[in-house]
Amino acid sequence: MGYPAQRPRRLRSTPSVRRLVAETRLHPADLVLPVFVREGATEPVPLTSMPGVVQHSLESLRKTAREVVELGLGGIMLFGVPAARDAVGSGADDPDGILNVALRAVREEVGDDTVVMADLCLDEFTDHGHCGVLAVDGSVDNDATLARYASMALAQADAGAHVVGLSGMMDGQVGYVRAALDAAGRDDVLVLAYAAKYASAFFGPFREAVESTLTGDRMSYQQDPANATEALREVRLDLEEGADLVMVKPAMPYLDVVRAVAEVSDVPVAAYQVSGEYAMVEAAAAAGMIDRERAIMESLVGIKRAGAQIVLTYWAAEVARTLR
Ligand code: PBG
Repeated sequence: MGYPAQRPRRLRSTPSVRRLVAETRLHPADLVLPVFVREGATEPVPLTSMPGVVQHSLESLRKTAREVVELGLGGIMLFGVPAARDAVGSGADDPDGILNVALRAVREEVGDDTVVMADLCLDEFTDHGHCGVLAVDGSVDNDATLARYASMALAQADAGAHVVGLSGMMDGQVGYVRAALDAAGRDDVLVLAYAAKYASAFFGPFREAVESTLTGDRMSYQQDPANATEALREVRLDLEEGADLVMVKPAMPYLDVVRAVAEVSDVPVAAYQVSGEYAMVEAAAAAGMIDRERAIMESLVGIKRAGAQIVLTYWAAEVARTLR
């Protein structure tokens, strides 16, 4: 027998062998497209910090929602960019607020042909930019915020959201919102818990996308990037409180957390490839530093390989076209 006896390269020898043995596959149904919709916009508004991403008008949003269905994507996640903000984020649970108007428009376009998700958080709607309402001392008031989230969840359910995505990292938010939905007879609405969400610099470009001017930081509610075990506690609590889906966010700097969560969660695990992850690849590619298409695919395969079943990515539509 020749040497070496073991030749792993045989399994990499041709494209068809590699395809046969691939352990991880991307499918359009795994991908969810996050979209921004801007109150009063008559045309899509391009975002400087996220080349290729826009703030939609209601009309361009409807068109994109139809594409999401045509491409067979798993879902669409809506974020609102309101024209006016105040201390309690009144636009968030106003049926005429931009996010709720947009949900109604999207649901009218797509029916049940894709999954319509709404970001459930106050930061887009508050003038101080925090994810909750503030106490007199300026800190984020956890329990007062829960009541706002419950009201927001009911407004989003009324507007047609299949899924409410709780992204504010308040203690008890999943259980509180689940109870409020159930009490209103909306036990049909799914709760996606942004269970492990880190206070991340990679959310930077998102701030431009939603025009949020945050004073201070989110370290008192989002997680410290140093901690992984803490993420497992957050996931356990969200599962106990009734989360239908749990998410880790951002994705690429937290693949160990994605893996750890996938090992303990008995509900599907999602990961959010956030604005800064998108911007980083786009900027490096625009500067000729990396191969854009390969980097996008590799980043998504990596996130799935780590254990995410669902990936939220601003490249969802483009990748689905490539996969076809
Ligand atoms: C909260 C929310 C944020 C993102 C999604 N939901 C911002 C934050 O928590 O600071 C960031 C998404 C991204 O960066 O792509 N509404």
